[in-house]
Amino acid sequence: MTTGLTFSKSIQRLSQRSSNVWDIHDKACARLDAGEEIHLLSVGDPDLATLDSTINHTIESLRKGRTHYSPGAGEAELLKTIAEIEAKASQKPCSPDEVLIYPGATHAIYSVMACLLDDGDEIVVPEPMYIGYHGIFDAIGAKVVNVPLEVHDNFNLDADAVKAAISENTKVLFLNTPGNPAGNMIAPEVLADLAQYCLERNIWLVCDEVYSMITYDKRHTSIRRAAAKLDNIIIIDGLSKSHAMTGWRLGWSVAPAAVTEKLLQFSSSIIFGCCQFIQDAATFALKNDEEYMNSMREEYKTRRDYAYKRLKTMPGLKCQAPQGGMFLMVDVTDIAADGFAFASDLLDKQGVSVLPGEGFGPSTKGFVRISLTLGVSELEKALDKVEQYTLSLNA
Ligand SMILES: Cc1ncc(COP(=O)(O)O)c(C=O)c1O
Repeated sequence: MTTGLTFSKSIQRLSQRSSNVWDIHDKACARLDAGEEIHLLSVGDPDLATLDSTINHTIESLRKGRTHYSPGAGEAELLKTIAEIEAKASQKPCSPDEVLIYPGATHAIYSVMACLLDDGDEIVVPEPMYIGYHGIFDAIGAKVVNVPLEVHDNFNLDADAVKAAISENTKVLFLNTPGNPAGNMIAPEVLADLAQYCLERNIWLVCDEVYSMITYDKRHTSIRRAAAKLDNIIIIDGLSKSHAMTGWRLGWSVAPAAVTEKLLQFSSSIIFGCCQFIQDAATFALKNDEEYMNSMREEYKTRRDYAYKRLKTMPGLKCQAPQGGMFLMVDVTDIAADGFAFASDLLDKQGVSVLPGEGFGPSTKGFVRISLTLGVSELEKALDKVEQYTLSLNA
């Protein structure tokens, strides 16, 4: 650009973050589009379809003319449905005026952060963390203080390490359970302890629970259930992962009513209400999902068990079984310089695309993330190729 026109600090910060973490995935997609046989294990977009019944309900809703402005907080029926689900999950009352609807969890996180943080304010976040957080925290201008998860103890969160990272400048502790990328679930007693610790110091505790429905050996405990008091607690959730509805863009926050009132001032100003027929779809999906949830969980568990069984025996790879979520983290340091070198060479030699771990944080530079977004027969073909590759490196 030739003029003296300038952009906001937010855009300057976002432009400064250059990362090659998606290069391998982008290359894989281009080769796939060109007709090559590529196994895509680098995305977090579930391969499962939106239920036919939800699609039919949405079409009906469209035909009924549900194509107009919606209340800023969300449609009453959807707020009530989510409040009931949250009340059941947390064993604590939850009223519709504690819930706010956004176009996706990403937007929910951004909006909530914009209400809690000013440029330069400190947020404590365990890492490895979801890649998408970088952009949100950069846009806000938050000063991120990362706490490493215990990489060799299945990415356990050490409450004392979190407390040590919290300072008098901390305004928010941001947690994600079950976690992306490592599928780690934070124990209820740790959640309770941190909630109380933060409350005593006037620190918000925001918890991203978008993988709450995808758990394997034990069920998710929400921060709302674990915490003794909810004054400082905000939950983020959405339909992208639980209902394989990434493209519908539907997420929500749950916070005390007085907090939600403030969050609404911001979200209604910048969103002005979410799409009516998508909210109808969300209400329908949430009310009619029991069978779907069970089969979805079974399907991911079958995939996780299969992938874990295969990967842990491959020469040079180390892998721990994730407790939830849609991914497996694999330590490749015995046979590659780092995750990027491994992922890049694996794509070149075998046509399998995985994501380098460095995008999630410094602790996982020597890892790659493998998505469970293919059925077992497809996973088998992809993992056969990963095995051939590891054998060639060890030969
Ligand atoms: C931990 C986590 N939070 C939020 C999101 C974004 O969810 P949404 O599609 O609702 O914006 C993702 C997507 O991968 C995620 O992994």
